[in-house]
Amino acid sequence: MARIPVIAGNWKMYKTRPEVKSTLEALRKLVDGVEGVEVVICPTATSLATAAEVLEGSTIRFGAQNVHWAAEGAFTGELSCAMLLDVGCQYVIIGHSERRQYFGETDETVSKRLTQALGTDLTPILCIGETLEEREADRVSDVVLGQLKRALAGLTEDQISRIIIAYEPVWAIGTGRTATPEIAQEVHSMIRTCLEQEYSSELAEGLRILYGGSVKPSNVAELMAQADIDGALVGGASLDAESFAQLVKY
Ligand code: 13P
Repeated sequence: MARIPVIAGNWKMYKTRPEVKSTLEALRKLVDGVEGVEVVICPTATSLATAAEVLEGSTIRFGAQNVHWAAEGAFTGELSCAMLLDVGCQYVIIGHSERRQYFGETDETVSKRLTQALGTDLTPILCIGETLEEREADRVSDVVLGQLKRALAGLTEDQISRIIIAYEPVWAIGTGRTATPEIAQEVHSMIRTCLEQEYSSELAEGLRILYGGSVKPSNVAELMAQADIDGALVGGASLDAESFAQLVKY
C-alpha cells in the first residue's frame, strides 16, 4: 500500500490569533483541495480554536504541539487529549527536540504521552533525532533507534501503525543546515529496518516517516525523492503561506 505523504507545519511559539487567521486564510486559497498529500498545521494552543474556525470545510488539518499523559487532573498549564479533540485537533506532535532540550522531556514521558494519545483518535507525530555531538561521536543509530524503541515500548503493533514518525536531526533544526537527502535517507531506512525487525514488514512498510530540519521550497523535492522519506515536518518555512504552499506542491 502506498504511503500518503504528509507535509506538516510546526508553528512553534510564533503567531498571534490574527496572524494565524490571515496565514491560514491565505493557505486555504493556495492548497485547499490539493490531492495526494496530507496537509497539517500545528499552531500554538491559543490559536487552535481559530484554526478550527478558519479551516472548517478545508482539506487542511490541524494539530497541537504537545499533550499531557493524564486524562485530567491537577496539572497546571497542561492540556489533555480530550481538550485537543474538543477543539478539533486530529494530530499532536510528541517529543519534539525543543521539548527534550528545554523542557525536560524524556523517553519515558514521550512514551506516556504517546500511550495516552493512542488511547484516543489523535494521530501522534513522534519526533526523534540526534544532536551534532552524537552524530560526530558516531552514535546516530544508537541514539535514534534507542529513542524510537523506548517511545514504542509497551505499545501494540496496531497502536504503532497509527503513529507518524518524524526524524529531525537536532543540528539541522532552524540552522539552515539541512541533512543531505542521502544522510536523511540513510537514517529513515535505518528506522524502517528497525521497525521491520522489531515488529513486521507490514508495519514498517505502512508507517510514514517524515524528515524535519531546515526543509524549504528549494530542497523539498530532492528530500521527497528518497525512497523512505514520506513527508516533512517544517518549522521556519511553514510560517509563510506562499512558502508552505510550495512545499505542499513539491
Ligand atoms: P526548521 O524547519 O525551522 O528547521 O524546524 C524544523 C522543526 O523543528 C519542525 O518541527
